[in-house]
Amino acid sequence: MILFDVYPVNDITITKAEGSTVWDDKGQEYLDLYGGHAVISIGHTHPHYVQRLTDQLGKVGFYSNSIHIPLQQQLAEKLGKISGKEDYQLFLCNSGAEANENALKLASFHNGKKKIVAFKKAFHGRTSLAVAATDNPKIVAPVNETDNVVFLPWEDQAALEAAFKQHEVSSVIIEGIQGVGGINVASPAFLQKIRTLCDEHNAAFIADSVQCGYGRSGKFFSHDHAGVNADIYSMAKGMGNGFPIGGIIISPKFKPVYGMLGTTFGGNHLACAAALAVLEVIEKESLIENAGVVGSYLMEELRKIPQVKEVRGRGLMIGIELPEELAHVRKELLFKHKIFTGEAKPNVIRLLPSLALTKAQADHFLTAFKAELN
Ligand SMILES: Cc1ncc(COP(=O)(O)O)c(C=O)c1O
Repeated sequence: MILFDVYPVNDITITKAEGSTVWDDKGQEYLDLYGGHAVISIGHTHPHYVQRLTDQLGKVGFYSNSIHIPLQQQLAEKLGKISGKEDYQLFLCNSGAEANENALKLASFHNGKKKIVAFKKAFHGRTSLAVAATDNPKIVAPVNETDNVVFLPWEDQAALEAAFKQHEVSSVIIEGIQGVGGINVASPAFLQKIRTLCDEHNAAFIADSVQCGYGRSGKFFSHDHAGVNADIYSMAKGMGNGFPIGGIIISPKFKPVYGMLGTTFGGNHLACAAALAVLEVIEKESLIENAGVVGSYLMEELRKIPQVKEVRGRGLMIGIELPEELAHVRKELLFKHKIFTGEAKPNVIRLLPSLALTKAQADHFLTAFKAELN
């Protein structure tokens, strides 16, 4: 049996990992500024995380939602406290697409409307509604095509107002910082406008925080930089530091009832233990603050480099736009300098490291990056 082709593969096999360092099967060390696509939030194989998961596995790894799982309540309480959204409700699932799928569905259950406003270059996942709200026709199968999604230009307040006049909008879904789209930061003014229009028209503001959330931006949710609350936040990637878990938190103005949403695996014992370990480490090691400090330092230094066209981002979610003739730099960083980074088409290097990245590791990257550019 051969494997389905999922992603462009680098010819590297990782066999060991610790913090922001990984090693391949030949013992070669790499600096990881990619975190398996923004997933490694507290660092690889963090001792507290390994201990908590190992302990849980020795007790009970899984049981479905047909029994009490006190770990879920502990997770909800900790998440409420750290995110500052203590009066929200938590629904647990297994991935980012699933989180957005449930968010869009719940919004429609809530207000009985159908139209979804999404934005150019958005990525919300690959399941039916999530992919329909993703601005990439290549990954939308004919069966996913729907008239229920309207794509608007990024940051266009007039287009947003017009859409609310023209359609019965059920929800507006927006990444606080577009990831796949190339690290585009939503301005506070635009997010505030979404809040106002959603309030005026009984529509739900859905903050896709799958990639930009969980402390990465220097605040728990990147949308928090705008000083307004969304109605639903979707989360996944950093939530389990590699253990598959996703979720949505739901504003108290929603009255979700039994039967609207459901899941077999969501909220299982091991997933909750992983998510609790992540939050405990985020809190104990002040990783949200660290993401803000080290991220600002990196962006400041990157902006001084003349060959760089533009630096975008917040905290440790950084996009470095290069001119076309430097498109090869990312591969050189990996194969020559042994540094993993991410990419966004056409020429953006995406930095999505662990929130525990140190200034020394940031300097290591800056030295290699400058050497390569020169
Ligand atoms: C902003 C955003 N939303 C949703 C998703 C989908 O998450 P998953 O791959 O866990 O389904 C992603 C994945 O890259 C993402 O970046």
